[in-house]
Amino acid sequence: MPLTVQGSGVIDPTHFRRVMGQYPTGVVVVTALDAAGTAIGMVVGSFTSVSLDPPLVAFLPDKGSSSWRALRESGDRFCVNVLAAAQEDVCRAVATRKTDKFHDIGWRPSPAGNPIIDGAVAWVDCVTERVHDAGDHDIVVGRVLDLQLGDGEPLLFYRGGYGSFMPHSLAAGDADLLDQLRLIDLARPHMERLAERFGTEVTAIALVRDELVLAAAAGRTELAGSPTRVGQRLPFAAPLGSCYAAHGDDALRERWLATIAEQLTAEQLERLRGVPDLVRSRGYAIALGHSELSNLERVSTLLHERAPEVSPGTLREAMARVADGYNPADPLAPDVELRSLSAPVLTADGAVAFTLTLWGPSESLTPAEVGRYADALLAAAADAGRAIA
Ligand SMILES: Cc1cc2nc3c(=O)[nH]c(=O)nc-3n(C[C@H](O)[C@H](O)[C@H](O)COP(=O)(O)O)c2cc1C
Repeated sequence: MPLTVQGSGVIDPTHFRRVMGQYPTGVVVVTALDAAGTAIGMVVGSFTSVSLDPPLVAFLPDKGSSSWRALRESGDRFCVNVLAAAQEDVCRAVATRKTDKFHDIGWRPSPAGNPIIDGAVAWVDCVTERVHDAGDHDIVVGRVLDLQLGDGEPLLFYRGGYGSFMPHSLAAGDADLLDQLRLIDLARPHMERLAERFGTEVTAIALVRDELVLAAAAGRTELAGSPTRVGQRLPFAAPLGSCYAAHGDDALRERWLATIAEQLTAEQLERLRGVPDLVRSRGYAIALGHSELSNLERVSTLLHERAPEVSPGTLREAMARVADGYNPADPLAPDVELRSLSAPVLTADGAVAFTLTLWGPSESLTPAEVGRYADALLAAAADAGRAIA
């Protein structure tokens, strides 16, 4: 059953749709108000950004669509609403209802007076610049008047179904993380005992592909920047995760440095090259200084919340700024701002299963007190190693 007739230009519509269905799209609702002031709209997958200077976007409505006719007749202003992953019901209502589409959909007027749908991930107010003819569709080019971000993840449409975006690192890492969570659970009593003894927090950190994931926590510290640190993720890159580098092969140590090399000075890079051996001989990693490290935690949280002012580059810069506070080779000063101590929990064959981090107090410690923290952490990590064996 040949679906295409090669060379003749005759393409079977079902085949055309099936092939084009391999290309995933976002889902937007193009909105406007009709002459009576009623909200009208149309679900569109063919939305795209076109030009930055001047700022232009486009979408491709079916010439036969009654929704497109209504939008066109309403005037030359429209608003593109990028739907959120949880707004499948909004999509279905707008795509299927003929009248009163916005009956139970909350919205507010945009600066140009068009409906901005509550909960949209982003909205773009436009004025029609040109409508081009394109077969059975039009190509509507809109000049952007105003645009704004909302919250959350976008709704995606692919092969006739709805879904949401998941980064590769998470999708592929889930299985690895589950294995580590099971091991961490076996170590939980030791984490709790240690947290209780020092009146602080003990966290377990897993290396999942190229990220350090804070997988479990016991106790509380006043230094935590958020109600829970569980789920925080940071790139596996110097100076963080040095316990993994300490017990890793040359390739892992190289990867640990390469990710952040551009943000470091030559001297910092040289010093960090020696850190894995230093950490391995001490048995633990040490981080000093509260303010820069709490800034790193804040930047990391903002990045995961997709705050527009923070990029992966900003995060690497914040990591580079704390590099000197991690694992200094010199003896400790008389009063130490101990941010944290970390030790690996090793499997029977000497690999790092996960690391335990003991968080320091807000007040300064003497080197002898830090020694007490370190001894207790190493004992807990050894106990945890026996528990998972
Ligand atoms: C996910 C999704 C994407 C759509 N994308 C488009 C599109 O890009 N262009 C278009 O003309 N119609 C698109 N539609 C269909 C329209 O939303 C609408 O249902 C169609 O124009 C027929 O409706 P009407 O005649 O009642 O307006 C899409 C529908 C869905 C559910």
